[in-house]
Amino acid sequence: MTDKNINKSKKLWGGRFAETTAASVETFTASIQYDSRLYKYDIRGSKAHAAMLADQGILSPGEQEAIVAGLSEIEREIEAETFEFKQELEDIHMNIEKALLDRIGPAGAKLHSARSRNDQVAVDFKMYLRDQCSQVIELLDGINTAFVRLARKYLGHVMPGYTHMQRAQPVLLAHHMLAYYEMFQRDRSRMIDCRKRMNLSPLGCGALAGTGLPVDREQVAKALDFDGVTANSMDSAGDRDFAIEFTSNCAMIQLHLSRLSEELVLWSGQEFSFVDISDKFCTGSSMMPQKKNPDIPELIRGKSGRVVGSLMSLLTLMKGLPLTYNRDLQEDKEPVFDAVDTVSSSLSIMAELLDNLTFNTATMAKATEAGFMTATDLADYLVLKDVPFREAHGIVGRVVVYCLEKGCELENLTVDELIQFSKAIDKDVFEVLSVDGSVNSRISIGGTSLQRVEEAIAEAEKQLRIIS
Ligand code: ARG
Repeated sequence: MTDKNINKSKKLWGGRFAETTAASVETFTASIQYDSRLYKYDIRGSKAHAAMLADQGILSPGEQEAIVAGLSEIEREIEAETFEFKQELEDIHMNIEKALLDRIGPAGAKLHSARSRNDQVAVDFKMYLRDQCSQVIELLDGINTAFVRLARKYLGHVMPGYTHMQRAQPVLLAHHMLAYYEMFQRDRSRMIDCRKRMNLSPLGCGALAGTGLPVDREQVAKALDFDGVTANSMDSAGDRDFAIEFTSNCAMIQLHLSRLSEELVLWSGQEFSFVDISDKFCTGSSMMPQKKNPDIPELIRGKSGRVVGSLMSLLTLMKGLPLTYNRDLQEDKEPVFDAVDTVSSSLSIMAELLDNLTFNTATMAKATEAGFMTATDLADYLVLKDVPFREAHGIVGRVVVYCLEKGCELENLTVDELIQFSKAIDKDVFEVLSVDGSVNSRISIGGTSLQRVEEAIAEAEKQLRIIS
């Protein structure tokens, strides 16, 4: 094909080929149906690349201007949904480049100098994921604001804390809410780390070995808001660690959402009746008129399978790939996009749902009254009276058996009954046997006492800049 004919061709290559691609191959290899999502980043990357090529004298100022104008026009058309994506052009990079070539002619044919689709797709994907990190961070702030609001609203109300799904020790409901705040704050910091680590530009690595043409990689990186450039062209052409790390963070978020969902499903059921989810956020049954189902938490719990699946897809995709670029890498996008969509929609609807919950504080408080939940407090009481902990543990175990036989709770026993188990017990024992006494005694850092939880709420409000 002569240079003059290049923009008459259906494709961007041709010199090497005597036959056109089979239609079945075009369908099988195309990614445009999903990677069109990257158009903004592809165009931004191309504009920065063109500016650098002009500074290096590879493009004339006029050619650079024509390229930038052509790309802007294409972007406007994509946004207005009037741009025609073509499957035979495979992916977003070639769809945009061919459209440019058709519009501006020879100047367009110079844009791909010193660039390969391998570094191009890597730079697009990194810019896209950088933005997604920021978007997910905002959504995490949204859900955490909802938790802190709930903690403040229900401060002082008690509930059973569980281990092994058995009532263990009384805690503040606010403390339970703030446990989720901590999980999502860790997710937030993981997203910040991941964004920082991925923020190095691969552009200029060429197909795999770098380029002999004069390029200024740092200039392009700066124009695209990267913190610098990647160090090894071969690594950069085949690296998808950043996508795996991002998706792993998404899987962790969805896992946290799923644990929360599980609790909401349990708590909203009649067996617990700890919480009422507003009608707006529940659905009915097509057959059983009495049903009000917690579908949102159930779906979020179910969607954790998708996100973990996306992570598994990426790990399996990368395992065993030789350096550098292999077409397998095109399979990286759909799992990542699905993880982005699933985590974003789950975080946003869960934040809304949290604003539409009513806790049945009386039922929760009542549940703390049975199950000997202050047994540890009684043991600690004995420790403070100089009984070795192991001995105290045995004494309280025997007191619990006594209560079970008698059919009562610890605080229903008289001092005289208690003294039979240990001479160290005195009248002041009842202060530690009450639920409030138990909760408020837990003043260790990170404990559930009112004082500690109030401090934790204030700290969280400061972090989230909530004015209370
Ligand atoms: N659509 C491709 C991808 O997502 C772009 C890179 C193609 N490079 C190549 N040498 N075929 O990976």
